[in-house]
Amino acid sequence: MTAPTILPPVLAIDGPTASGKGTVAQRVAHALGFHYLDSGALYRLTAVAAHQRQVDLDDGSAVAPVAAALSARFTHDGRILLDGQDATDAIRTEVAGQGASRVAVHPAVRAALLDLQRQFRQHPGLVADGRDMATVVFPDAQLKVFLTASAESRAQRRYKQLIEKGISANLAALLQGLQERDARDMSRASAPLAAAKDAFVLDSTHLDIEQTVAKVLELWSSHRSPVTQTP
Ligand code: CDP
Repeated sequence: MTAPTILPPVLAIDGPTASGKGTVAQRVAHALGFHYLDSGALYRLTAVAAHQRQVDLDDGSAVAPVAAALSARFTHDGRILLDGQDATDAIRTEVAGQGASRVAVHPAVRAALLDLQRQFRQHPGLVADGRDMATVVFPDAQLKVFLTASAESRAQRRYKQLIEKGISANLAALLQGLQERDARDMSRASAPLAAAKDAFVLDSTHLDIEQTVAKVLELWSSHRSPVTQTP
């Protein structure tokens, strides 16, 4: 008889665009000594790869093979490579974000990225951030957090982020783009953006990053469920 396998624990953080989940998830992963999955980066990489191959982003059957064959590498120093080329900055533009949200509506694209995302579940544990971490990719996560904030404060944060990076930005346009992306992410048929029934909803409108990280770590200490055993 083989010994039961203990699956590494998962802390899932889902939420709308610019809710701060990426920064919060990375810091929480660091504090726990866990691996980190930026699932949005995979959708962004798929959009950029499809664009490079002149594939129509709205054609799911054409984009799915691009997602299935995605050659992505996350380096230890935080760089993201696509086909061996540094794509770290290229995938962070608003255009790539909009492209990601377009390719993400296709069920075949989502299915093509499923295994790749689950491969990130390694010991001693994983913090995964996205839209459907708690609902689809890791439904057995030990803790599910849905991180949100008002659209205005999210637009402000994104604006500050871009300006700090030396990228020019327009607040009104950002707010509009963010609301469009939210609407598309929430209304799509496949894995729409929504809090899992068993998720803790955390509104960070009036919290800074440190306070939000502290809150998530507090939830992890006090509310995580026991790790799963598979026979
Ligand atoms: O950083 P931001 O929240 O703006 O975006 P992201 O997390 O990088 O995700 C980019 C887009 O990918 C989102 O607008 C979603 O449409 C899609 N996405 C998804 O559908 N499912 C995920 N698990 C992650 C991202």
